[in-house]
Amino acid sequence: MTNKPKILVMAGSMRRDSFNKKLAKIAAEEARSADAEVTLVDLEDFNLPLYNGDHEENEGLPEGAKKLKQLMIQQDGFLFASPEYNSSISGVFKNAIDWASRPEKDDASYLVAFRGKVAGIMSASPGVLGGLRGLVTLRSILGNIYTLVLPQQVTVSKANEAFDDEGQFHDAKQKEKVTALATELVETLQKLMK
Ligand code: FNR
Repeated sequence: MTNKPKILVMAGSMRRDSFNKKLAKIAAEEARSADAEVTLVDLEDFNLPLYNGDHEENEGLPEGAKKLKQLMIQQDGFLFASPEYNSSISGVFKNAIDWASRPEKDDASYLVAFRGKVAGIMSASPGVLGGLRGLVTLRSILGNIYTLVLPQQVTVSKANEAFDDEGQFHDAKQKEKVTALATELVETLQKLMK
């Protein structure tokens, strides 16, 4: 068995200049440096409709939802950068999680995209709490759908001042926190793969 864990990295924002996309990109680089096979995706590329049970019943999962779900199935772990909207996670991120959680007849197990996966969670916000309250919700959601969430997490407060024009942190200490989380995730997955 290869000891190179596969990690999907995604931000829960579709905004072009999203702080969480910047955070996700840095985390992806750090996970790659820690020797993971990393796939960084943009939620917007999946073109997910809002979940509607009637449409699902009539047409099954839309193409983008199938693509995201399959991609998640192939992973060992996730690094998510989640914006905080009204103390919770963004609607688009929840919608993506909801679609990926839906069963299909050939699924190998219940909640196959999430079950037995390990996640590192992060948040960036212009506020002083850095999206901390949204991570409480995200941790709860992921735990309830059988994903193990690392106890460590990263929040980036005053995110509007945190990144330079290249999307890197001004403050080296901030990057160290992301490196630590990405490394912890890779090392945890390597232990589980032994
Ligand atoms: C926000 N924002 C926000 N920020 C925060 O720290 N706590 C909050 O509860 C909220 N609530 C909230 C609700 C809605 C509907 C919006 C649109 C925004 C601000 C939010 O953190 C900010 O827009 C970030 O820039 C969003 O993340 P991205 O898109 O930059 O990754």
